[in-house]
Amino acid sequence: MDLAGKTAVVTGASSGIGKAVAQRLVDSGARVALVGRSEERLREAASAWPRDSWLALPCDVRDSAAVQAMAARAEQELGRVDILVNSAGAFKAAALTELDDETWRELWETNVNGTLFPTRALLPGMLERGFGCIVIVSSVVAHRGFAGMTGYGATKHAVTGFARALTTEVRRQGVRVVNACIGPVDTPIWEGMTTPLPREEMLTVDEVAGAIVSAMTLSDRQVVEDLLLLPQGGLYP
Ligand SMILES: NC(=O)c1ccc[n+]([C@@H]2O[C@H](COP(=O)([O-])OP(=O)(O)OC[C@H]3O[C@@H](n4cnc5c(N)ncnc54)[C@H](OP(=O)(O)O)[C@@H]3O)[C@@H](O)[C@H]2O)c1
Repeated sequence: MDLAGKTAVVTGASSGIGKAVAQRLVDSGARVALVGRSEERLREAASAWPRDSWLALPCDVRDSAAVQAMAARAEQELGRVDILVNSAGAFKAAALTELDDETWRELWETNVNGTLFPTRALLPGMLERGFGCIVIVSSVVAHRGFAGMTGYGATKHAVTGFARALTTEVRRQGVRVVNACIGPVDTPIWEGMTTPLPREEMLTVDEVAGAIVSAMTLSDRQVVEDLLLLPQGGLYP
């Protein structure tokens, strides 16, 4: 896909991976609707980008009706949406005995419902036009188990399963679905957490955004359905 002139919705665009992907899309000539809960954070993230290349659509991805309204506004403002990047996410490590209901709900609603709602809202337009690309930012924790990740790991298995099933539903209708399983990335999500790697050994947001955008820019005859991106040295010595 040639990104120039394309339109995209990126959730989680105020920080980390989502922000870096949005920036790459803007740099490649796309117009991008930026989604996150705080309009101020979205505007701050995009403050150095050309003003006509983005719009801020504050929205909580856990709220189905709010997401539906956001998607309608994105389609109204952008004309059509070619690309959706689901990067909004919540993370908390906790042993199962420490995993309270509130944390479980927060992880599930943000990571799983927050992927389902934007995808379901924007897919019909893509199917109508027979063209689209949906990226689901999952994690290496969808590939293997890690202690302390029963909650977060369950949500990432869920979104990877969602992506793989969706691929089979839409691939013959011109919509590409990228299940992007990513290893540790140096973003604010780790603040206050014990990290599995020193932060300087983690992937950078630019590296991850580069890999995701490269997957999008393959010719329309090709698709990266499953991406597993890790730091070259792996996760353990
Ligand atoms: N960092 C890693 O090591 C890593 C590795 C693999 C996968 N991932 C995944 O990558 C994605 C992005 O993570 P990140 O590391 O870039 O984290 P981050 O820097 O903390 O960014 C998270 C983004 O999600 C938004 N967000 C959170 N809850 C939301 C909600 N309810 N509605 C709308 N937006 C919401 C945040 O904005 P507001 O708070 O302003 O709403 C922020 O823009 C997540 O799905 C995460 O699971 C991260």
